[in-house]
Amino acid sequence: MILVFGSLNMDLVMTVPVLPKPGETVLCPGYTLKPGGKGNNQAVAAARAGAPVAMAGCVGPDAFGSGLVENLVRAGVDTSGIHLVEQPTGCAMICVDADAENFISVASGANLAAASDRVEDSRLGPGTTVLMQMEVPAEQNWALIRRAHDLGSRTVLNVAPAADVPPEVLKLIDVLVVNEHEAAEIADRLGLSASSATGLARDLARTCGVTCVVTLGSAGALMAESDGALWTAAPLKINPVDTTGAGDAFCGILTAALDGGAEPAEALHRASVGASLACMALGAQESLPTSEAIDARLHEVAEPLRL
Ligand code: RIB
Ligand code: NA
Repeated sequence: MILVFGSLNMDLVMTVPVLPKPGETVLCPGYTLKPGGKGNNQAVAAARAGAPVAMAGCVGPDAFGSGLVENLVRAGVDTSGIHLVEQPTGCAMICVDADAENFISVASGANLAAASDRVEDSRLGPGTTVLMQMEVPAEQNWALIRRAHDLGSRTVLNVAPAADVPPEVLKLIDVLVVNEHEAAEIADRLGLSASSATGLARDLARTCGVTCVVTLGSAGALMAESDGALWTAAPLKINPVDTTGAGDAFCGILTAALDGGAEPAEALHRASVGASLACMALGAQESLPTSEAIDARLHEVAEPLRL
């Protein structure tokens, strides 16, 4: 099973003709409230992809919080690890323009109270894959990674938004998922000098002893394994409506496949196709595909290529 430890936000989504520049005001007719937050999105993505999922995190005593928990229950996610705290539920302001570009700012609120010691030992163990992102306090992730590693769980860390990961923590992680910018930041801190995405993936995988997946947006994804194997995966050809949460879809689907016993290259294939499908509607969770929906489109892109 998958345990997602992470953030829950209510997303306030505005579709604007163009993204405002600093000091500028842009008008649009309305906004919609959509469930979001990287942890929450990844939990729903993994559940849609067919995995048994539990979520651990915090919400506040407000309508956003109860709405988010209800949404997770509808998605079939175990919400018993979500705690109610006396801070407002996390909220994100998202502007999406006509080209599906976005900008996002997040008020963390209750997410700052997420505590790894609230995750019981019984949730961790060889049968569990723990999936984390960087919208909760970093030390809480590091503590959970150490415990999960000691208890034999697989750990997947999506270093989004970009963050400094201590080298000793990196070594305990099984799968690192980053975009090119996040990969470069981590590599830089470790004194690695690669500049290409493939070089970064390879260096990080080898140096940290992890499987390193680098997402490349509309160019697909790369995966380097610690033994030197390197794979590339193409995305589906689509006209995106909203790319918000595409990275979350990728992480949730990748983790669901790995947790279900898929080979890494197969998991990469499913995640690349599924993340493309997730861009076809407004909102981070609106078009997250089921495993059947992914199956139906898998043949449209070649299987990941081993370089
Ligand atoms: O990754 C997308 C998510 O980032 C949004 O749902 C928003 O809540 C922000 O956390
Ligand atoms: Na979407």
